Amino acid sequence: MTTYTIALLEGDGIGPEVSAASVQVLRALKGRFDLTFDIRKTPAGDRCRAERGEALPDSSVSAIKDSDACLKAPVGDTAADVIVRLRQLLNLYANIRPSRALQHVPSLKPGIDFVIVRENTECLYKGMEFEFEGGVIALRTITRSASTRIAEYAFQLAEQRLKTREVLAVHKSNVLRKSDGLFAECCREVSAKHPGIAFSEMLVDSAAMNLIRIPERFDVIVTTNMYGDILSDEAAQTVGGLGLAPSANIGETFAIFEPVHGAAPDIAGRGLANPVAIILTTCMMLEWLSKTRDDRNCAEAAEAVRTAVNGVLESGIKTVDLGGNASTAEVGDAVAKRVSR
Ligand code: NAI
Repeated sequence: MTTYTIALLEGDGIGPEVSAASVQVLRALKGRFDLTFDIRKTPAGDRCRAERGEALPDSSVSAIKDSDACLKAPVGDTAADVIVRLRQLLNLYANIRPSRALQHVPSLKPGIDFVIVRENTECLYKGMEFEFEGGVIALRTITRSASTRIAEYAFQLAEQRLKTREVLAVHKSNVLRKSDGLFAECCREVSAKHPGIAFSEMLVDSAAMNLIRIPERFDVIVTTNMYGDILSDEAAQTVGGLGLAPSANIGETFAIFEPVHGAAPDIAGRGLANPVAIILTTCMMLEWLSKTRDDRNCAEAAEAVRTAVNGVLESGIKTVDLGGNASTAEVGDAVAKRVSR
């Protein structure tokens, strides 16, 4: 029996509801896969700030560092103090946001299966905003090293995927000539080292349009931090919405897994939130554990969870966002039951 320590950030708003579903699914893996998870609740977010005066205490950072992986539900207004800080602190440079049509959920077009690879440590998200009389200046950082590193990640991912073997760099170098110009230049340089992968570029406004016009044509999209943040919410909508969209923040040795969505205060506490996004996020965590710990069991467990999710959706157990009437807990229960079968 292998045990992995998981730092769990339950988050705010719908966070505790959806993370409970993931915990249930992880527990259900024990019987079938000889896998157990030592799940350590780790305080962070709005509630933590209200109770302790800080959104991300040092003790939580230590607990995260001491774990095998971190599963994070969304936090609320403290997102910049929690996840943006953790990405920089732990150098989680690649934010991986897949959009893949699920069998039993209507999508915008057939055959949608692409991944946004978002640079996760710089751009406008370094928090360098300065007030001056009559305005604010926000500084955007784009470095050669971070741009090259994320481009390299995207090309390697395109090599592993079985789709069109294409990387598309999204930027706005016609206006942001120096910063996005550098990003584009780094992507071109990396593309030259990967002759087996087709490479093209698109301006971000055009990419926003094409994501809803021809989403089935994309494979791997590499982009800077803010464009990736915005485009990935749009991308989620092409395959059924934020309630289904998983993501991973990957570094050299550590990773944090979180759904794309936020704390959704408009539906919090009512059992309306779709837990599938965080359950598919949990699959990404299992796949990463499989790869980094060379543990086939975790890959098989991830596959079993994906199959269970598809089965549950096929049986019509869906939350309101997908046109169903099941609660968050009912979907979580149903997936966990199928996993343990
Ligand atoms: P949001 O993603 O929380 O909500 C946008 C819309 O999607 C809402 O109508 C919501 O009800 C719906 N939605 C989101 N997740 C859903 C789910 N699992 N099932 C069904 N419907 C779902 O984005 P919003 O409203 O912009 O942000 C709310 C709060 O979340 C803010 O305080 C923001 O700072 C925080 N946030 C935190 C993030 C993080 O922790 N990584 C990421 C994004 C936002």
